[in-house]
Amino acid sequence: MTTTPPARPLRVAVLDHTAALGGAELALVRLLDHLEDVEAHTVLFSDGPLAATLRARGHPVEILLLAPALATTDRHAAGRSPLVAARNAARVLPFAIRLGRHLRRLNPDVVHTTSLKADLIGIPAAWIARRPLVWHVHDRVSPDYLPAPLVRLLRLLARLVPRHVVVNSAATAATLPGVRRLTVAHPGFSAEQVGPAPAERNLPEPPVVGLVGRISPTKGQLVLVRAAARVLRERPAVRFRLIGDALFGEEDYAAAVRREAGALGIADRVEFPGFVADVAAELDALTLCVHASPTPEPFGQVVVEAMIRGVPVVATRGGGVTEIVAPDDAGPPLGWLVPPGDDAALAAAIVAALTDPDEARRRAGRARESALRRFPVTRTAEAVSEVWRGVVCRGRCRRPRRRGRRGRRAEPVRRARRTCRR
Ligand code: GLC
Repeated sequence: MTTTPPARPLRVAVLDHTAALGGAELALVRLLDHLEDVEAHTVLFSDGPLAATLRARGHPVEILLLAPALATTDRHAAGRSPLVAARNAARVLPFAIRLGRHLRRLNPDVVHTTSLKADLIGIPAAWIARRPLVWHVHDRVSPDYLPAPLVRLLRLLARLVPRHVVVNSAATAATLPGVRRLTVAHPGFSAEQVGPAPAERNLPEPPVVGLVGRISPTKGQLVLVRAAARVLRERPAVRFRLIGDALFGEEDYAAAVRREAGALGIADRVEFPGFVADVAAELDALTLCVHASPTPEPFGQVVVEAMIRGVPVVATRGGGVTEIVAPDDAGPPLGWLVPPGDDAALAAAIVAALTDPDEARRRAGRARESALRRFPVTRTAEAVSEVWRGVVCRGRCRRPRRRGRRGRRAEPVRRARRTCRR
């Protein structure tokens, strides 16, 4: 008599080059918190707050140090010059080999990479470990976001190498044409992030308009400061809060934002509280949440966070944010969308939202319902786990076969998945 061995949890090695708490890393923490029947082991290429956060939440994590000069290489510099890229690739190879051997010892079923650098380094590492590779792409792979040569390389590799690519939005998916195995898994919110309905919020007086996000040209704090100067001409009591810190070497931009506030004579109306751990408390203290990215945002988690806390949103159209705030063109508006990089339009929308608090409350109410329905992290966890199981099945399970006219053919993957024990 043959017995079937009991199914064991799926083992996943997660790779990230950074241990800073950027958007993709916050999404990763929530994803790991909500996985079922999966043993995830995270390997970071540098040390930092992400490692501490994961440990505190009981997720196994270890650091395999990549030379800091390589871990922090600016993707713009590396991607623009083929020479720098080639030199970096040569310098990174010994690390990739060490990582590959380490992965072999860890013996995961799948290697899952969550940053562009980890995607690239993960290729030789997963190959050495002989494990299927899944890329989780949180950036739009597009020339308005990344250097063109890097875009070409990533698009080519995405088609050829990973067994599956997970992306954070349909907007990101559109930047990876021709990738056959691709799944959109929107980053989700966890139950403890949900806040009160708009009618139950205590609104600050005078009004406070805030932007939550790392201080970076891609987040558009400069556009908001310029819009703030316009808003203050009509609503002089309004306060602005730019909540977040500069990461990844973008301190010059942060200095430029402060200088602009000074030059416009509004330095006393714009607050810079720096990095704030309790984003929910900050959102609760806002009248309005602004998302000002001048280039299309890949997803825009903070927009979802504002929506589920009942905070009205003014955001720039484009990328994942359009998916979040205007999922249905014909439906009633969930917030205000403005063209990117247009401080006059941004100011007009902020004034409109502040001038009609009833309409702001109505839009925020609809936005909350919509986000609660569409973005729970349990959905993300299911979608990503399904990708992993599919990849493992494709690689390992005996596929049921059916007779075709020209002999035997494999059945579609979905059928194979059902016969897989994991
Ligand atoms: C990155 C993207 C951001 C997204 C986050 C989670 O930080 O820039 O748009 O919300 O990843 O996917």
